[in-house]
Amino acid sequence: MGDNKDDHSSPKEENPVLDSETPQPGQSHEDNSLEAIVRQFQDSMSVGKQHKFWETQPVGQFKDVGDTNLPEGPIEPATPLSEVKQEPYNLPAQYEWTTCDMESDETCNEVYALLKNNYVEDDENMFRFNYSKEFLSWALRPPGYYKSWHIGVRAKTSKKLVAFITGIPARIRVRGEVVKMAEVNFLCVHKKLRSKRLAPVMIKEVTRRVHLENIWQAAYTAGVVLPTPVTTAQYWHRSLNPKKLIDVGFSRLGARMTMSRTIKLYKLPDSPATPGFRKMELHDVPAVTRLLRDYLAQFAVAPYFDEDDVEHWLRPVENVIDSFVVESPETHEITDFCSFYTLPSSILGNQNYSTLKAAYSYYNVSNKTPLLQLMNDALIVAKQKDFDVFNALDVMFNESFVKELKFGPGDGQLHYYLYNYRLQQALRPSELGLVLL
Ligand SMILES: CC(C)(COP(=O)(O)OP(=O)(O)OC[C@H]1O[C@@H](n2cnc3c(N)ncnc32)[C@H](O)[C@@H]1OP(=O)(O)O)[C@@H](O)C(=O)NCCC(=O)NCCS
Repeated sequence: MGDNKDDHSSPKEENPVLDSETPQPGQSHEDNSLEAIVRQFQDSMSVGKQHKFWETQPVGQFKDVGDTNLPEGPIEPATPLSEVKQEPYNLPAQYEWTTCDMESDETCNEVYALLKNNYVEDDENMFRFNYSKEFLSWALRPPGYYKSWHIGVRAKTSKKLVAFITGIPARIRVRGEVVKMAEVNFLCVHKKLRSKRLAPVMIKEVTRRVHLENIWQAAYTAGVVLPTPVTTAQYWHRSLNPKKLIDVGFSRLGARMTMSRTIKLYKLPDSPATPGFRKMELHDVPAVTRLLRDYLAQFAVAPYFDEDDVEHWLRPVENVIDSFVVESPETHEITDFCSFYTLPSSILGNQNYSTLKAAYSYYNVSNKTPLLQLMNDALIVAKQKDFDVFNALDVMFNESFVKELKFGPGDGQLHYYLYNYRLQQALRPSELGLVLL
């Protein structure tokens, strides 16, 4: 199950952007492509499938979809902390739990290596996420993080790290309620230990440790269909270095297209167009916090950031997160904001290239600068920074710019989930204001 679909997206074979010189805004190729039909079929199969583990968990169950008698909110009430299991779950005898100290360079290296070799791949096993150590250290140590939520499994004899799962604390607003949650991520089991039901034990253990901190809800994403997505988002890809993307098999030359026409199609100006567009700095934190708060209030589910969160999550960190503000040249007011994070992928088995440098759209706030122009400036700076591709999910208002800015739809679907929190109805991706790393 973990392997048939994942959230590592590459462009669909029939990339409409590559197929003609001028993409056709508003024309939807993605709904009737063969890939889409196959995917819908696979997804409908997963809905009919048994989920021996997930059926036992407080998550929306497939059988309850459409039942409007069930209330929105927690599925199970919080229990007194004294009733939370005090000892870790049992692992198979050859393995032991370890808490991974992400402040330790040595541990960070071990986690990095486990993920580099065993984490998410695309459907064709051509690319695998290669989160950098700096990225992991940033992603796992936000304000108020718990060391105990960075959970590893080691082989008892060799002490080799063979599995990993993490949680970080976050306040997530679901409609009118701000809920303390864990964001669970980086679930990974070594390739040699797959299909042995280790993942459910990892998930139960992180849940137990989250409960010990008196937190009862979680948010997570997966490329696989589980009970039950709160929304399903799609990846879109904007070529910045089309020649390399084609050479490594990430995208294909469109019909009736030559390489030189393709390169010309994706060419971008040398510098951003918006006056006052500049890198975010520490002193922008209060203004960016206000901008983001107001902006994210429009979505049904979104993080509820305070200034400490913004300082951590949105201040630029080299090779990890890039953020830009638009400062009005006249009033010096901060009017707009955009950001993307750096997540390279290893290119598996290519003679000429080993790494695909990808930027992922993060949080963007358009007030005065049209979103299209703001995102075009984001593409320009990403190109300047030598990214090969710029990726965006169709969450928030991203659908409004992808076609015009020459993104092509990917084959990757990303399903969003909440643990122990029911929504009466699934959301449209545009109603979601949350990006997980
Ligand atoms: C995801 C992964 C840890 C699952 O481990 P596995 O050995 O394939 O599966 P196991 O036998 O241990 O467990 C299977 C159970 O885990 C569930 N599961 C699989 N992938 C899952 C995911 N990404 N999130 C939550 N549950 C998942 C399965 O649905 C199944 O439960 P079910 O019977 O209720 O449906 C493993 O395949 C892996 O490391 N894959 C590469 C990295 C990856 O995709 N990570 C997840 C990113 S979202």
